[in-house]
Amino acid sequence: MSKNYYITTPIYYPSAKPHMGHAYSSIVADFFARFKKIDGFNVYFLTGTDEHGLKIQRSAEKLNKDPKSFCDEISNIFEGLTKTLNLSNTDFIRTTEDRHKLSVQNLWNILEKNKQIYLSKYSGWYSVSDEAFYNEDEVIDKDNFKVSKTSGSAVEWVEEESYFFKLSEWEKPLLEFYEKNKDFILPESRKNEVISFVKNGLKDLSVSRKTFSWGIKVPQDENHVVYVWLDALTNYLSSLNYPDQNNELYKKFWPADLHIIGKDILRFHAIYWPAFLLAANLKPPKRVYGHGWILSGDQKMSKSKGNILDPLEIINVYGLDPLRYYLLKEVSFGNDGNISEEKLESCINSDLANNFGNLCQRVLSFAEKNCSSIVPESDFNDEDLFIMNSMTDIDKIRTIIDNQDINQYMNFIVDRLFASNKYFNDQEPWKKKDNKLRLNTIVYTSLELIRKITILLYPVIPQTSAKVLRIFDIDEDSINFSTLDNNNILRKGLKLNKLNILFKKIDK
Ligand code: MSP
Repeated sequence: MSKNYYITTPIYYPSAKPHMGHAYSSIVADFFARFKKIDGFNVYFLTGTDEHGLKIQRSAEKLNKDPKSFCDEISNIFEGLTKTLNLSNTDFIRTTEDRHKLSVQNLWNILEKNKQIYLSKYSGWYSVSDEAFYNEDEVIDKDNFKVSKTSGSAVEWVEEESYFFKLSEWEKPLLEFYEKNKDFILPESRKNEVISFVKNGLKDLSVSRKTFSWGIKVPQDENHVVYVWLDALTNYLSSLNYPDQNNELYKKFWPADLHIIGKDILRFHAIYWPAFLLAANLKPPKRVYGHGWILSGDQKMSKSKGNILDPLEIINVYGLDPLRYYLLKEVSFGNDGNISEEKLESCINSDLANNFGNLCQRVLSFAEKNCSSIVPESDFNDEDLFIMNSMTDIDKIRTIIDNQDINQYMNFIVDRLFASNKYFNDQEPWKKKDNKLRLNTIVYTSLELIRKITILLYPVIPQTSAKVLRIFDIDEDSINFSTLDNNNILRKGLKLNKLNILFKKIDK
């Protein structure tokens, strides 16, 4: 069985500072990457910035900057955000790097060699904000302007010479591919959208632009730059040193296991991307997951609406792990989710401080007073075994992760936290001072429960979990998910390290 796992975030447009929607895509991808890592996989986790195209060129012009230095500045902020979000990414790619240009031009040459590209003239609607071409029936009038029906962004009429990709030839092969790979697109509802779009007929796709220059030059025709989406999607290959298909990275990690993206860019990833790859005789990725939008006040966050929640500000006030926990637990993955500071605060108080924090503090201070902070002996009864065994079905948890069912995973944790707190309460170890073996066993069992839950929490709140596991001398690099099926990991006689308060309750 291959133990390699390749996961990606979308690469972000460095046209403006990162917002919560960007942070969300990245946190979700990091969650899966970290889970796979503690489950023994060799994980390759890619993120980066998408720097070409008219949208970036115009944003730079507005500030009187040349596009490259404009991108350098904002791409730096995005790279800084990977640190602030504590992402475990292996690579950060920028589409202005030479390794990426080489990869895009090579893919272009292969498509051309395979007779998939021809020169013609494009006339139609184009949205610079979405960097997307729209059919007449996808455009509506709004306040005397033409806008895209789906995204609402302004479209402009474009008429120019352009190279085309023969997307229409891929209609049938794509439908067959979806049929064979039933879980290629998730969630299910989005898959149906994509399939019906393809069934309605695909037109050839314009894949070059001639009226501006900020992009990768089309090989053999310097007057054209490659369409920014063909350019951007190829980043997933460039990071693995494509076109060299014999290098270790490519051999180990292509095809990608999971592209995490937002629903607004599903068409590019679930239709164009596999079509380009199939047309170049390359394997398509195994799965594309289109998550919903993070809404603020019921609307998608955007600069023009002025409703942006800045992840950096939130992290400054509440800390990173509370934000990660909140987004993963409270947003129903795959659907849109409204977020607010008020809900974040309730989540910190109820789940992190009262439930998880409380379990750790109570058990550890009891162990300190009654067992001198040393892991005691144990002699389990059925109740002890029952609660510990409720976290030993590791294959079930793996399936939840492989279905990207984040909410089921989080509900399982919360449920186990309640059950563990209840176990400690119901067992009343403070009344067992005259039965030392029973008291010790309750402490041992509770410590094992903390160990197991904290391992499950590691992909969600890595910094806090690493801190908690240090009480058992387990360091971050040796966290191992498969030890969940063992109820006797803690060695009798082990000195428990001290733990400071994990989460402060917020006064409301
Ligand atoms: N550059 C392209 C992606 C190319 S991938 C080969 C792009 N960039 S983006 O910066 O506009 O958006 C990046 C990701 O952020 C997308 O997946 C998008 O869905 C996500 N989000 C942007 N706003 C969002 C929310 N308000 N909520 C959740 N995610 C949203 O598209």
